[in-house]
Amino acid sequence: MSAENLTIVDHPLIRTRLAVIRQASTETAAFREALHDVARLMTFEVTRDLETKPLEVETPITKMQADELKRPIIFVPILRAGIGLQNGFSDIVSESHVGYIGLFRDEETLQPKKYYCKLPDNITDGDVFLIDPMLATGGSAIEAASQLKEAGATRIRFVCLIAAPEGVAEFHKAHPDVPIFTAALDECLNEKSYIVPGLGDAGDRYFGT
Ligand code: PRP
Ligand code: URA
Repeated sequence: MSAENLTIVDHPLIRTRLAVIRQASTETAAFREALHDVARLMTFEVTRDLETKPLEVETPITKMQADELKRPIIFVPILRAGIGLQNGFSDIVSESHVGYIGLFRDEETLQPKKYYCKLPDNITDGDVFLIDPMLATGGSAIEAASQLKEAGATRIRFVCLIAAPEGVAEFHKAHPDVPIFTAALDECLNEKSYIVPGLGDAGDRYFGT
């Protein structure tokens, strides 16, 4: 399903793995495996509109015109939890470059706190995928997208696992040029700004903390 700048990547295999991820009794190992699977399954949809250019190749039979990507692919997970999704994407797109943005949400103020940023030199030339499993208030994703733009990135997509309508609205307001891809659009935020029904704390569940 696709509305303007918001694509819900809906597929039976994604929905059934999301059930494992959401289930509170799922242990860390199974949680990780299911998250990697969802990322792999989402890869085709989130990269569908990448541009290619002609590439001449020589098969054992003859020369032909094939395709190569026009620009490098750059994955930028937001630490920590973004690493889980990025691992799955990188399994499929092995030629990708990877940068990291370290942010955590201050649970009192809900404001994102910056603690790390290391981006590849070709960030200005690439198709950049900003990655975080959770889009809750939107504060972390908005700040990370701003950091990418300050570094010169122009072609940015934001990819998450579960989004809250509140976070989608805030992100669109701050970055109307950045499309959002999510595996699920949930109901709302609770009084602590956790996504309902959500999956709880993504970083704690992925890293077993
Ligand atoms: C989680 C999640 C997002 C953020 C979403 O990270 O991975 O980065 O919260 O919330 P927001 O949309 O309201 O900003 P967290 O701050 O828990 O850090 P962690 O990944 O290190 O656990
Ligand atoms: N961060 C999480 O990990 N989960 C939420 O529901 C909201 C923010």
